[in-house]
Amino acid sequence: MKALYHPFVFSEKVTVPGNLFLAPMAGYTDAAWRGFATKWGADLCYTEMVSCEALSRDSSKTVDMMRKAEEEQFYAIQIFTSSPETAVKALPYVLAQKPSVIDINCGCPVPKVLKGGCGAALGRNPELMHKIVKALTENTDVPITVKIRSGWDKNSINFLEAADAAQAAGAAAVTLHPRTRSQDYAGKADWPLIKKLKEHISIPVIASGDMFSPEAIKEVLETTGCDGVMVARGAVGCPEIFQYAKELLTTGTYTKIPQHQKLENAMEHFARSVKYIGEERACKEMKKHLCCYTKGLPGSAEIRNKIVFCTSADEYLGILRKFMNSENL
Ligand SMILES: Cc1cc2nc3c(=O)[nH]c(=O)nc-3n(C[C@H](O)[C@H](O)[C@H](O)COP(=O)(O)O)c2cc1C
Repeated sequence: MKALYHPFVFSEKVTVPGNLFLAPMAGYTDAAWRGFATKWGADLCYTEMVSCEALSRDSSKTVDMMRKAEEEQFYAIQIFTSSPETAVKALPYVLAQKPSVIDINCGCPVPKVLKGGCGAALGRNPELMHKIVKALTENTDVPITVKIRSGWDKNSINFLEAADAAQAAGAAAVTLHPRTRSQDYAGKADWPLIKKLKEHISIPVIASGDMFSPEAIKEVLETTGCDGVMVARGAVGCPEIFQYAKELLTTGTYTKIPQHQKLENAMEHFARSVKYIGEERACKEMKKHLCCYTKGLPGSAEIRNKIVFCTSADEYLGILRKFMNSENL
């Protein structure tokens, strides 16, 4: 039987050393976060989705979203588009960042994205998805992958057809988040659909959805036969999930980090964010992360109430240090 933790082959030229990935998350997976997740064992991290339309207009803000973190030996850039021509126009900007993989978002349920025919609207249109994948594979040898949902709604489950279209156009792998667009993030991810997909196509399959614990990651690998796993919400405030999962998959057990390390992690992530985007922006961007780092710690509600009002690095770090030195931990 194949080991659950193993290298992931995207193409002849691109093999990532492991199969535990940080999923693309708009507003979260910036360079600071990806670098930190890499330190904690993520084998490949995905950027936030970037607009091909904006890249083709030479938007420096969008180019900045693709910035690679120092620790990232491998990284994936996720793009969104509804036009093969725009995808090809944007390609040089993407390739200039030297990504290991380019992923196409075919699952985003946000109305603004759907309105442009992108995200889940593209997932609903396998023919157009095929054209976009083909246009890209014809213009680069960087592996092109797609990330899809199970379908638009419960009456139009089309993930097998969408995956077929991507595979036929030369896609190197398919990620399935087995919820429909209309489910958004509600209900449970339908993992048996991942098994169905794995049995249906020959290119590698990456599982996404409800990877909230190392045990969940192990279960999805065991029960679906998928080739890799993407962690999204479960890694926010908990980058150590990658280390835990790797330990669990390779040794059958794992050791949790001490509570004070959670706060050290929060401080290190914050420092990394300041380094990449400066103190002012980091203070705004880091609130959501810092609240998650403290989740579950004794007295954490009090820290979160204070963090909401912080406007400087000194204030943040002061609160976290005070909490670290308290008798609670
Ligand atoms: C805040 C947030 C932002 C997300 N942004 C993206 C994105 O930019 N591209 C994408 O393909 N998926 C995005 N997703 C979906 C995740 O990558 C993932 O498929 C989904 O959250 C299910 O995984 P999980 O249950 O482990 O969180 C996002 C999810 C969340 C919660």
